[in-house]
Amino acid sequence: MSERTLVLVKPDGVARGLVGEVISRIERKGLKLVALELRNVERGVAEQHYAEHDGKPFFGSLLDFITSGPLVAAVVEGTRAIPAFRQLAGGTDPVEKATPGTIRGDFALETQFNLVHGSDSPESAAREIKLWFPNLAG
Ligand code: CMP
Repeated sequence: MSERTLVLVKPDGVARGLVGEVISRIERKGLKLVALELRNVERGVAEQHYAEHDGKPFFGSLLDFITSGPLVAAVVEGTRAIPAFRQLAGGTDPVEKATPGTIRGDFALETQFNLVHGSDSPESAAREIKLWFPNLAG
């Protein structure tokens, strides 16, 4: 069943010139881009995006990081797109959880600077796509 997921190439990924690498892996997997934009994120949008982490010790620095420079936001579509992108990304901790061959496993060292974000459930995907791309047609 086709579904959509929200993908971010975070500011570390943009600064390190890894946008093409991430997009290429998405496309080679067979997933399709339906929206793609380079943008600077307002703190309010970042707070809403990461609302579930409000109160955690890393919340403030996560917001500082995600608003620190341009990022790439994308909506990606395809069969099982949500778990498929999470498979491409690898686990949140790039060393302990992400394995070689994944985006984080190949290119990241620190949990905060883990290059990409992908929605973790259909509910999160719907909420995040509406937040980042409110005008995107279904
Ligand atoms: P992401 O998949 O975007 O979801 C939440 C983000 O918070 C996560 O990637 C990391 O960038 C960050 N994060 C999660 N856990 C930690 C942590 N223990 N320390 C710092 N940042 C974290």
